[in-house]
Amino acid sequence: MRVLVYGSGGREHALAWKVAQEAEVVVIPGNPGIAADAECVPLPEGGFQGVADLCRSRDIDLVVVGPENPLIEGLADVLRAQGCRVYGPGAEGARLEGSKARSKELMASAGVPTAEFESFNDPSAAREYAERCFDGGAPVVVKASGAALGKGVIVCRSLAEAHEWIDRLMVRREMGDAGSTLVLERRLVGREFSLLTICSETGHHSLPLAQDYKRVGEGDTGPNTGGMGAISPVDWVSPDTVREVEDRMVTPILAELARRGVPFRGTLFTGVMVEDGIPYCLEYNVRFGDPEAQCLFPILGSGFVDALNAAAAGEPVPPVERLPAASCTVVIASPGYPGEYAKGLPILVGNPDRHVKVFHAGTRLENGRLLTSGGRVAAVTATGPTLPDARTLAYENVERFVFEGAYYRRDIGLE
Ligand code: AMP
Ligand code: GLY
Repeated sequence: MRVLVYGSGGREHALAWKVAQEAEVVVIPGNPGIAADAECVPLPEGGFQGVADLCRSRDIDLVVVGPENPLIEGLADVLRAQGCRVYGPGAEGARLEGSKARSKELMASAGVPTAEFESFNDPSAAREYAERCFDGGAPVVVKASGAALGKGVIVCRSLAEAHEWIDRLMVRREMGDAGSTLVLERRLVGREFSLLTICSETGHHSLPLAQDYKRVGEGDTGPNTGGMGAISPVDWVSPDTVREVEDRMVTPILAELARRGVPFRGTLFTGVMVEDGIPYCLEYNVRFGDPEAQCLFPILGSGFVDALNAAAAGEPVPPVERLPAASCTVVIASPGYPGEYAKGLPILVGNPDRHVKVFHAGTRLENGRLLTSGGRVAAVTATGPTLPDARTLAYENVERFVFEGAYYRRDIGLE
């Protein structure tokens, strides 16, 4: 089978590396790290139609779309209309991630447990809601409904802060149209984990749990990022809780989408927070997590491509083998990330140990030299019999990926 992976980040490196164990892979456009594991081809001219043409000329059997933006913009619909088999939902299904207002409305219709919320198109109504919540002693979270690169969610500590963000997002449009609709919801307090499920309209299969470290600073301090590291499995979550998430968050939302005539073929990423022992759905995403993918794929065995291919065909999803190992991923970021950061710093790469994989995200080649080109530069994943083994090995290997000011959290996988 010949698989096309669409994208250029760390998640797409993990996808290409994993798929290459079981199939031929072409990646558009890829990055220098991906090019060591698979054939990379520049993004074709002609937008989504150009991608469809490339699939035909390269005899592609299955397209796996990595990031959410092309899905939200309808890449999967364009490809499907021309007979390509695609892993990734169409634009309507991708609104589960692209519109938080829509996502919360779907959760409510499907009876998915989630924080109490309301959606607003008018700042004064949003301010009144925030006032009522804070008067009742309930802090609120202000969320830009549209896609805002993970920066559109503000956990507010005071009413003044809520007012400020309603103003910045909705009135001053600091995040553009993403802020034209806001979701305000009750702040939950608890620990988070992610469940990634390979789905079709006829069945689904969930991967092992993963836990992402979203804040930039050690001890979960500082601003949110795309994710500074991940671990799997997640021992503090009980099997009963996982079953509850499957039964109350995964199955019902897929059924609700199907009821509305939206078949979902792709990854359902359920972000969960456990408050007082009760799991609540924080959000859904419609693609593999980054860096969850880099953490999970190295502990999967055979059957990955079969599962993606079955989902893309709308068939029941066969289980993917799970290796008896733990995994720890440490993200190496540019100095300053997630704020302003330098680019073009030369990188020196040493040889990784066995059971270690370095996934590239923000790197590029210039005259044969490897340089930084993004906020999150690479992710180092190590696997081992236990999480402490994986963690020790990951940190030994992080030291071998060197550039000036390289930043990483030292507490990934610690309690
Ligand atoms: P989201 O993009 O909706 O997952 O939000 C990003 C992050 O904001 C989550 O991973 C949580 O850490 C935090 N967050 C979102 N919603 C809430 C909430 N209702 N209560 C507390 N924290 C939240
Ligand atoms: N790591 C969180 C995400 O991919 O959204």
